[in-house]
Amino acid sequence: MTVGAPGRVNLIGEHIDYHGLPVLPMALRRSIRVSFRARNDRLIRASSERYGTREFEWTAGLRPAAAGDWENYLRAAAETVSGKWGVLRGMDAEITSNLPPAAGLSSSSALIVSFALALLRADGISGTFRELMDVLPEGEQFVGTRGGGMDHAASLASRAGCASLIRFDPLSVQPIPIPGDWAFLVAHSLHTAEKSGAAREEYNARRTAGVAALCELGCASYADAIRAHAAPPADPLQRDAFLHVTTEAQRVQEAVAALGRGDAEAFGRLMLDSHASLRDRLKVSCPPLDHLVAAAMDSGALGARLTGAGFGGCAVILCRRDDRPAVRAGLLARFYAGRPRFDPDQHLIDADPGPGALHS
Ligand code: GLA
Repeated sequence: MTVGAPGRVNLIGEHIDYHGLPVLPMALRRSIRVSFRARNDRLIRASSERYGTREFEWTAGLRPAAAGDWENYLRAAAETVSGKWGVLRGMDAEITSNLPPAAGLSSSSALIVSFALALLRADGISGTFRELMDVLPEGEQFVGTRGGGMDHAASLASRAGCASLIRFDPLSVQPIPIPGDWAFLVAHSLHTAEKSGAAREEYNARRTAGVAALCELGCASYADAIRAHAAPPADPLQRDAFLHVTTEAQRVQEAVAALGRGDAEAFGRLMLDSHASLRDRLKVSCPPLDHLVAAAMDSGALGARLTGAGFGGCAVILCRRDDRPAVRAGLLARFYAGRPRFDPDQHLIDADPGPGALHS
């Protein structure tokens, strides 16, 4: 049997999921696939052409393998599953992927989601969206990262042809059709932010500043702060985090409205505003991402912004479907020319909205 979980690209709503605010990603048609056969013992064996073979005995309370080893993702999935469903049957698995790693497209969440689904299915358990969302985001702590729930929700519950409006309080995923004449590209800045390294501390620092701002204002949540029209705190770091989060939440609402009325120009402007806020207030961009966004706009895009945690990785670009070849050509000439690391299959992707793991 085979299960797959797609990566995602976030269209808008960056660095706000961990504050419980709605976000608007879509699943990509690029995924991590796990072909598996159930075993009659508790051994988990997995091989990947890229990373090699790993095996371990599945027990409750697994300890991490060596730091940085990909086995930790497999252990994270097993530990996540056993925390809710108990230790199940082991399996022999083969993992393949056409999703670029460390690009801000959620390859690590897609690996954990697909491996957890395979472990469940090997034992005949399907797992509902809600059950999976109860444990998957938390499970990622096992590999030393803990984002919000956006990546797992998008990878599980997206619908083909749609963006996913993900709300967290309470959890829901609303598919919003993307007009047929809109098209997206995902372009890599060729600057890689390893999620387990310095970028992780930077990510956590943004989260901490946002929470500190809330405490300073005496608000219980960002939803409350927004409802109360709270003024930003005086401390510059907290103020910038607060202003990013509250304005980004507003942009998500406006982007959903623009999507609904098919207003690609408005959606594109909101993407540019989001990028500016991430660059100037939250300071999670970097010169290569800023150049990439500028190159996309010079090539005929309607909007572009960094996507994912930032500090490197990819930008998401919106254009008219008919213009996509020209935008692509413009990026090749303006941004990628003369860069030997550039691989079009990995670094410049036509991003069409695919189904999540539970709907494919
Ligand atoms: C990472 C996290 C997500 C989200 C984004 C920023 O991708 O995994 O949960 O916080 O950063 O929007």
